[in-house]
Formats: sequence, structure tokens, C-alpha cells
Amino acid sequence: MNIEEIAKTSPDIVIVAETFADIPAREALLDRAMGPKRRKKSSEKLRRGRRPSEGLALIARTAEGSVVGTVRLWDVRLGEGGPAGLLLGPLAVDQAMKSAGIGSALMRHAIAEAARLGHRAILLVGDAPYYARFGFTADKTAQLAMPGPYERERFLALELVSGVLDGTKGVLKAAGRKLKTERARLAA
Ligand SMILES: CC(C)(COP(=O)(O)OP(=O)(O)OC[C@H]1O[C@@H](n2cnc3c(N)ncnc32)[C@H](O)[C@@H]1OP(=O)(O)O)[C@@H](O)C(=O)NCCC(=O)NCCS
Repeated sequence: MNIEEIAKTSPDIVIVAETFADIPAREALLDRAMGPKRRKKSSEKLRRGRRPSEGLALIARTAEGSVVGTVRLWDVRLGEGGPAGLLLGPLAVDQAMKSAGIGSALMRHAIAEAARLGHRAILLVGDAPYYARFGFTADKTAQLAMPGPYERERFLALELVSGVLDGTKGVLKAAGRKLKTERARLAA
């Protein structure tokens, strides 16, 4: 069964932690979904040379084993000396499986998992009409900034602990575990 056939029938999708073996399929999916410019985004400055936050690199997998969705979250610091937070992205779903609820499943799983792991806030740069349904707004990011160009109305946040973003200000800083080996660097 190919991916389009799965989408039309019952999509038997699971959201699981990404493994090393999933990385080529995840990268190919991101290239298809976002194109080569994806590596030029401001978010990339906070991800480059870092590993995703522990337990927060997720994929959507079909029963046959294909990777059809991906989301990762990254440890950041909210301004110099500010509190810890997570930066979410990129989120992508295979074109052939769009509007089947896989993006939402990835988002809900990521948010629940981040909360369970004790994280207090998630930030991202993305389309507010999509991310509002998960509780993201630009209300709490006015005093925060990405380290590079971005559109302010797309800079969104979700508090996992109410009020944690009150008074936060400054430029987001990378705070994730550094990639050690060249093999891992290529995989990130
Ligand atoms: C955005 C994306 C991850 C959504 O994945 P998905 O599995 O199709 O999402 P869901 O099935 O959970 O939700 C689909 C709904 O969201 C809507 N939606 C999708 N992208 C949207 C966007 N950018 N803005 C507003 N609504 C959007 C769809 O119209 C659909 O609405 P419907 O349920 O009323 O038909 C996917 O379309 C994708 O990979 N896009 C390319 C990569 C990308 O742009 N990622 C970052 C998004 S800012």
C-alpha cells in the first residue's frame, strides 16, 4: 500500500520518538515540504550544532514504517539570563497525507510530552491560524526576539505553566546539548 492509499483508508499512524535510522527519511520529507531555504531561517541559528531537547524529536510513522511527519523541539534560553524554554520546529507532514490530522497529532503529542518532561513554555515561528488551535499566540512574545529576521506576528508562544513568560525579554539563545561527532552533526 502506498502513502496515498493509506491516507484514503484508515491512517494507522503512530507518533513515536525518532531513531537514528529515521533521519534520512525525515530530511527527505523536510526537503520536499519546505525546500532548500529551510536552512536559512532564524530558527536554524538556534538549532545548528545542537541536539533536539531530550525525548522531543518525534515522527509520525505508518504501520508499514514510512515516516510521514516530523516535529522537533529545541532547548533555548529566553533572553540573556532568562528562563529556559523550547523552540518548536520544523513541523512537516507528507504532502500526500495532508489534512488527515497528522500535524495536529504531532503537535498535541509534542505539547503533552514537553509538559510531562517539565518544560514551561514553547515558542515557534509559524502561521498563527494553524498554531492558534493548540493555544499559541503572539501575546507573550512582544518583548522577546529571534536571532535574525522573522515576522513578528508569526512569533508565537504557548505557556505550559501559566505566567511563565510574563516579564521575559531579549533575544532567544541556543541552549541545547551540542552535537559531538561529525556523524551526528550531519544527522541533525
Ligand atoms: C502545516 C502542516 C504541518 C499541517 O499538517 P496536517 O497534517 O495537514 O495538519 P492537520 O491535519 O492537523 O490540520 C489540517 C488543517 O489545518 C489547516 N492548515 C494547514 N496549514 C495551515 C496553515 N499554514 N495555516 C492555517 N491553517 C492551516 C488545513 O487547512 C486543515 O484545515 P481543515 O481541518 O479545516 O481541513 C502541513 O501542511 C505541512 O507540512 N506543511 C508544509 C510545511 C510547513 O509549512 N510547516 C510549518 C507550518 S507554519
